[in-house]
Amino acid sequence: MSLIGQGQRRLEGREKVAGATRFTADLEMAGLLHVQLVLSHLPSATIRSIETESARSAPGVVAVVTGADLPTSSANGPDKPLAVERVFYVGQPVVAVIAESEAAAWDAASLVQVDLEPLPLMMDPVAAMREGASLVLEAGEVADSDDASIHGAATESEATPVQRPPNVSAVATQKRGDAAAALKTADVVIKGTYRLAGVHHAAMEPHIAMARPEPDGGMTVWAPTQGPFALRDEVAGVLEIPAHKVRVIPMPVGGGFGGKVSLLEPLLTLLARQTGRTLRLGLTRQQEFLVAKSAPAASFDLELGAKRDGTLVAIRARYHYDNGATAGWHAGISSSFLAGTYRCDNLDIVGFEVSTNKTPVEAYRAPGAPQSYFALESAMDELALKLDMDPIELRLHNAVREGDRSADGSPWPAIAMVECLEEARQHPLYTAPCTAGEGVGIALGSWGGARTPAAAGCRVEPDGTLSILIGTVDVSGATTGLAMIAAEAFGISTDKVKIQTGDTGVAPFGPIAAGSQVTYSVGGAVHEAALEARRQLLEIATEELEAAPEDLEITDGRVAVRGVPERFVDITRLVAISTEFMGRYRPIQSSGRSAVLSASPQFTVHIARVKTDAETGAFQLTGYAAIQDVGRAINPPEIEGQIHGGAAQSLGRALGEQLAYDSEGQLRTASFLDYELPSVDQLPDIDVRLIEVASVVGPLGAKGVGEPPAIPGAAAITNALARATGTRVRDLPIDRFAMARHAQSP
Ligand code: MOS
Repeated sequence: MSLIGQGQRRLEGREKVAGATRFTADLEMAGLLHVQLVLSHLPSATIRSIETESARSAPGVVAVVTGADLPTSSANGPDKPLAVERVFYVGQPVVAVIAESEAAAWDAASLVQVDLEPLPLMMDPVAAMREGASLVLEAGEVADSDDASIHGAATESEATPVQRPPNVSAVATQKRGDAAAALKTADVVIKGTYRLAGVHHAAMEPHIAMARPEPDGGMTVWAPTQGPFALRDEVAGVLEIPAHKVRVIPMPVGGGFGGKVSLLEPLLTLLARQTGRTLRLGLTRQQEFLVAKSAPAASFDLELGAKRDGTLVAIRARYHYDNGATAGWHAGISSSFLAGTYRCDNLDIVGFEVSTNKTPVEAYRAPGAPQSYFALESAMDELALKLDMDPIELRLHNAVREGDRSADGSPWPAIAMVECLEEARQHPLYTAPCTAGEGVGIALGSWGGARTPAAAGCRVEPDGTLSILIGTVDVSGATTGLAMIAAEAFGISTDKVKIQTGDTGVAPFGPIAAGSQVTYSVGGAVHEAALEARRQLLEIATEELEAAPEDLEITDGRVAVRGVPERFVDITRLVAISTEFMGRYRPIQSSGRSAVLSASPQFTVHIARVKTDAETGAFQLTGYAAIQDVGRAINPPEIEGQIHGGAAQSLGRALGEQLAYDSEGQLRTASFLDYELPSVDQLPDIDVRLIEVASVVGPLGAKGVGEPPAIPGAAAITNALARATGTRVRDLPIDRFAMARHAQSP
C-alpha cells in the first residue's frame, strides 16, 4: 500500500478556505420566494388567535400560512410543521410569511400578531418528574426515538418495571449482580452528582433549505443535509408521495455534528407545494439557537464502590436527560457506557428521559457519551485520589479488553482501551512534573460506531480521471480518504480521483454522514467499485496489448506489460476506444457495494494540563493531548483535524458553552455574545497520537473517527483542575466565579 496512511490535503479544502464553495444560501433561482418564520414567544400556551391580515397586505407578500392552513399533520404537537392550537417551547414556528424578498418577508413577519394564552410551564426536569407535575406532552405524543439509530447509537432502553414519573417518556436500565450489597461492603465509595448544561451545535452555517415543486407532483430539495436519502424519505412521508418523486440535491454542509439531517424541509416543502413556487428558508443566528435542536442537559447521581486495590465492585447511577419538548433517546446510550467501560460485576443503572418546555433536543456529536463520561471519568478520578492511586493505573486495572462482556452482553471485539491508556501513561504531558498551581488530568471516552449498507458507482473519464459517485455527503473531509482508497485500488494518484455525491435521483444508495460511519460504511463500496473499474480497464488493455491481464500493471496513467515498459497503452486511449461512436468495447462503468456486519468500537484518552492562579482562581489550559484508536489511519491529517475539532467541542462544554434558560422559558444565551464558544486563546496546541489496532471488519482495518474526540475533554480539564487546586468541579460549564471564591477561601 503506498497511498493509505500518507497525508493528503483535503480535496475540497482549497475552495472552502478561498470562500469559493457555493452553499445553499448562494444559489440563485428564477422566481425564488423567501420564507420568514414567526416563532412562539412563550414556552407553553394555547393559541388564542393569529392576526395575519396586516402581513398579508404588506408589500411583496405572496402568502401568510398558519398551522391551520396546512394539511393535518400526524406529527406530535411540538413537531408539527407549524404549531396547531398549542405551543410547547419558545422558538416553535407558528406562522410562515412568504414574500418576494427576504426584507419583505422580515417586515411582514413583524406585523403578524400571535395571541397566546399561557399554560403551566415545566422548565426544570426534576420538578417535571415530581408527582402531580403538569404534563409537557400529552399522552401519545412521546414515543419516537428513530433518531438514535441513525447516529450510530446502540440504544438499550427497554420497557421496564421501573415506575415512570410524570413527563418521563422512557427509562433505560442496566442491572447486573447486587449493587446495593456491593456498595455496602466496598472498601471505598465515591458518590457525586455531575451535571452538564445543554449545548448548541454552533455550526458556522445556520440551517437553510430550498424547495421547488415539480410538474409531475414531485419536489426537488436543495439542503446542506447530512443524510440526503433520510431527508428524501422524510419529505416523501410529509408530502405523501412516493420517495422517487422527491429529489434531494445535497449541498455542501457548513457544519453538521448531528444537527443537519432535516429540520426545515418538511415545512418548506409543504409551503412550496401549497404556493406552487420555489422557496428558500434560512435561519438567522438567533433563530438557529431557538429553532434548531441542540444537545440535552443531563444530571447524573453516580456511586462507585471499589476494593482497596482499586477493583471496581459496584456502579450505581440515577440520571436524567432534559429533552425539551420531545421524547429523547440519550439515556439508553449513556447506560451502555456506564455499564460497559470498566469490568464490574454489580450494576444498578437507571436513566430517565424527561420532557420540558424547551426546544426539542437532537443528536450532537457522540450523543449521550460526553454526558455519561463526564460523570464516570470524574468519579474515577475522585476514586483514584481517594485510593492514592495513579489515575491511569486505576483505569488499566479495571479496563475492558477484547472478549470481555460489553453492556449488551456481547463480547468486546478488538478494542484498544488499554493501548490508549498505555500511550497516555508515557506521554510527556502526563509524565512531566507539576509546578505549583499546575495539574494534569486524564479522561477516557468510547463510541460504538454506526454501520449502514452502501453502494458506489465508478467510471473513467476521457482524461483518465476516476469518477466515483456516492450517495453520502462530506461533512468532515472523509471523501478525501475515500479518494485515497479508490486511487490505491485502481492504481492512480489521489488527485486523479474525483468523488461526487449525487442527488437522490441518480446516486447509489449511501448512509447519512453521522455516527462516525462514512469511511467505515462507504469505504468498502468505493474500494470494490475502483477494483472492478480496474478489472474492466485491464480487460480492454488485454486485447489491445495482446497480453494476459495478470501481466499488466497500471502506472503513470498507462497500462503496461510488466517488465516490457515499451508495450503500453494510455488509460485515456482505453477510455476513448470504449466510448467511441461505433466502438467495440463496452464502457468502463462499475459499481461496488458494502455492508459491514458489525461495529468497531473506538476508544480515546485525553490529557489536559492546566495552570491555575492561586489568588484569582483563573486557569489556563497549557497542554492538551488526544490519543485515539482509529483502527487504520487512512488519511492522518484529516483525522487530526477531526480530533482537533472534537476536542474543542468537548472542552467547550467545560469552558463556557451553555444553553441557559430563565424560569419564564426564555433562552438567555441565544447569540454568540452570550453563548460562550471556546476561543482560540483558551485552547492550547492539541497533540494527537493515533493508535492503530486494526478492525477486522472495517475497510482496510479502519474504524470510525469523528465522535470519540468530542467526549473526554470536559472531564480531562476538571480532573486537571481538581489536582491543581483541590476543587472538584461537578457542574458544567465551569463556574469561574466559584473557582475564584474557592481560591480565596483557603
Ligand atoms: Mo451524528 S451526532 O452521529 O451526526
